[in-house]
Amino acid sequence: MKRVLTGLQPTGLLHIGNYFGAIEPMVRLQDGNELFMFVPNYHAITVPQRPDELRRNTLFATAVYLAAGIDPKRTTVFPQSLVSQHTELGWILNCIAKMGELERMTQYKDKATGKGENVSVGLFDYPVLMAADILLYDSLLVPVGSDQKQHVELARDLADRFNKQFGQTFVMPEPMIRKDGARIMGVDNPEKKMSKSASSPKNYISLMDNPATVEKKIKAAVTDSGTEVKGGAERPALANLLMIFSLVTGKTVAEIEAAHAGQSYGAFKQNLADAVNAWLAPLQAKILAFSKDEAMLLKVLEDGAKKAEEEAEVKMKVVRQKIGVAL
Ligand code: ADP
Ligand code: TRP
Repeated sequence: MKRVLTGLQPTGLLHIGNYFGAIEPMVRLQDGNELFMFVPNYHAITVPQRPDELRRNTLFATAVYLAAGIDPKRTTVFPQSLVSQHTELGWILNCIAKMGELERMTQYKDKATGKGENVSVGLFDYPVLMAADILLYDSLLVPVGSDQKQHVELARDLADRFNKQFGQTFVMPEPMIRKDGARIMGVDNPEKKMSKSASSPKNYISLMDNPATVEKKIKAAVTDSGTEVKGGAERPALANLLMIFSLVTGKTVAEIEAAHAGQSYGAFKQNLADAVNAWLAPLQAKILAFSKDEAMLLKVLEDGAKKAEEEAEVKMKVVRQKIGVAL
């Protein structure tokens, strides 16, 4: 029985990369582990958000968790903003984190590039809040896509530094990164990961795209030169499309390649679009059904927050004591 924790920022709609990178692994861990799955809405405001949209996206993320199979009776589901210990520990960890180590975070560098001085301090500091999210609950496993590995490693460094300075307080978390599907690339650009913050919606397949949109995006997907439906390191575009095919059908890449031997890219893309749509349809139906019941979603989040806060407060009492602020 291990403590497992993850969260997905409620910025816009979630996409299949988010689903396979972070949500599905959580669902699989639900049996036999103790799970915390939260909505990091304080992470979302590191870039400007419209307040009404942020609220809507927070409820939407909750609906997606439930639709994917997260059971709030077994998993503590809550919004970061209702458990103030996250920001409290975030501040304390800020005071042991170093500028240099945050400057090395590649996600920050990516997001800040070209913006000069015009990025929020929050965007720079975001990995420290993420470390607080993880360390508050003695999380041992953190299922994430591979882009978040460096942030989980920072959480380990901060835990170690705190423990050395103030005595054993935090356990060491491990990032849990699946072998296939931890980094789904953009369908319009196999060199860059699929991301909600991509400049064009052609980059990602949203969990809420309708069948015609999915078909359009997949038909427009970038392919490699040649005509063969084959993946491999030299063929990143096809490798990515084949991986998506494999994830939504449960078939191996080799099986899919064999089934398309001698077929055109066009035929392959049609089959891929059909497979993605067949996989999305029941998930979307569940997401929509859960989304309609706002009272239920709020109740799940409030009940979860109460449970999370009890745990978080136990840890914070120790932390405040250790650093000398519990008077
Ligand atoms: P985005 O870049 O789309 O805004 P987030 O940073 O909110 O995504 O990521 C939420 C979770 O989904 C994280 O665990 C992240 O590692 C995972 N994730 C994001 N993009 C991908 C992807 N393209 N492939 C696999 N996992 C991903
Ligand atoms: N930073 C993560 C992302 O952008 C979201 C996140 C915040 C998270 N806190 C976390 C993920 C703690 C895992 C554990 O996707």
